[in-house]
Amino acid sequence: MDKLVIRGNGPLHGKICISGAKNAALPILMACIMPNGPIELTNVPKLADINTSCKLLNILGCETTFENGTVRIECGQRNHEAPYDLVRTMRASVLCLGPLLATLGEAKVALPGGCAIGARPVDLHLKGLEALGATFELTEGYIEGRCDGLKGAHITFDFPSVGATEHILMAASLAEGESILENCAREPEVTDLANFLNACGAKISGMGTSILTVQGVPELKGCKYKVMADRIEAGTYMVAAAITDGELFLEDCPFHEMDAVAYKLREMGVWIHEKPTGVLVRRGTELVGVDVNTRPHPGYPTDMQAQITALMCLAKGASTVEENIFENRFMHVMEMVRMGADIRIKGRTAMIRGVDRLMGAPVMASDLRASASLVLAGLAAKGTTEVRRIYHLDRGYENIEQKLNGAGADIRREKQ
Ligand code: EPZ
Repeated sequence: MDKLVIRGNGPLHGKICISGAKNAALPILMACIMPNGPIELTNVPKLADINTSCKLLNILGCETTFENGTVRIECGQRNHEAPYDLVRTMRASVLCLGPLLATLGEAKVALPGGCAIGARPVDLHLKGLEALGATFELTEGYIEGRCDGLKGAHITFDFPSVGATEHILMAASLAEGESILENCAREPEVTDLANFLNACGAKISGMGTSILTVQGVPELKGCKYKVMADRIEAGTYMVAAAITDGELFLEDCPFHEMDAVAYKLREMGVWIHEKPTGVLVRRGTELVGVDVNTRPHPGYPTDMQAQITALMCLAKGASTVEENIFENRFMHVMEMVRMGADIRIKGRTAMIRGVDRLMGAPVMASDLRASASLVLAGLAAKGTTEVRRIYHLDRGYENIEQKLNGAGADIRREKQ
């Protein structure tokens, strides 16, 4: 296993190009099971999860190549079974269930396990697919689904789940008749998936709202599509600029999708200025503590919770972070405490008191965004920080050490 060795090297200065969004590319890749004809996806980030998705598509009968940020896919005779050893490494693969049912009428997909941040059930996914006419059995850890063609339905999600919304949106695109989906997730990545599906000939309306309407079509066709930029990667580098008291220009930053993050960072004293081709970010005045509650979009995103927590460690005064989406998303906190942070957890809330300095230390990554927050803390810390188990990081950040070192960081990747 690799580790990152980070030497606190003062303020970052320079330009960082924002890559395509992992959380848009993953559902779009699963949707690529459905169209007939060649598909070309551009601005796809070079990440472990993308490679896993391409492997899965090949196993499912969709010939897939991935080079220089472009994925090319053409589906032949589809295979209905997604193997456990792939699904267990990437939860998002469960999203192939709906597209397989929509195209083959049957699917056998390993039930994804939980992960470090929570149980991650898929009950809302299955309930939605059942409403469209599918039936399921759970045998030996696999979900086996069948349907005699999917039929449109009126579905209201118990919770605005991103994955469940994306899953049902894909399946409903090829269902017979109209589907009305209520209490949908409004994350920009859901809209990106809907735009991709419409580019393939689907008839989806209501994007960006909590009510999506789908007129089912008999077939989807291949298309060319550019994946949106990654707002979470961009937010992570905004914090990198502020936590090191530097200045970064984030090229291709999807700033219009980042209102809640921009609002909170500005409230802390971070200076953010939108330019025609990107966003300029630096620490403006002295950083001050704020309160953050993670919520479904357009609220403050849970995927930026660990990162702002790192910044709060060095802000003047007290901050609180309430994690309302996942049940166990404070794994980074005790690692930051080992670096000298003053954080206490009470239930769903972390209470942070700013300190003058963080000190480098060996720390353990537990999940993707926790890993990123430890890198941020290491950039600002005095001395050397070793972040271990960085395979988590490679799932979601394309070339992170190259991008940061290009702006003046001192990060080395070493074998554990
Ligand atoms: C997506 O996960 C993202 N992953 C997550 O990003 C992100 O944190 C999350 O949305 C929330 O924004 C991808 O897009 C690949 P949810 P997802 O369904 O779809 C519960 C990252 O770091 N729930 O909105 O799994 C669930 O347990 C990752 O990039 C059910 O109870 O999120 C959680 O508490 C981490 N039943 C809450 O809803 C279900 O059937 C939110 O989950 C589905 C979800």
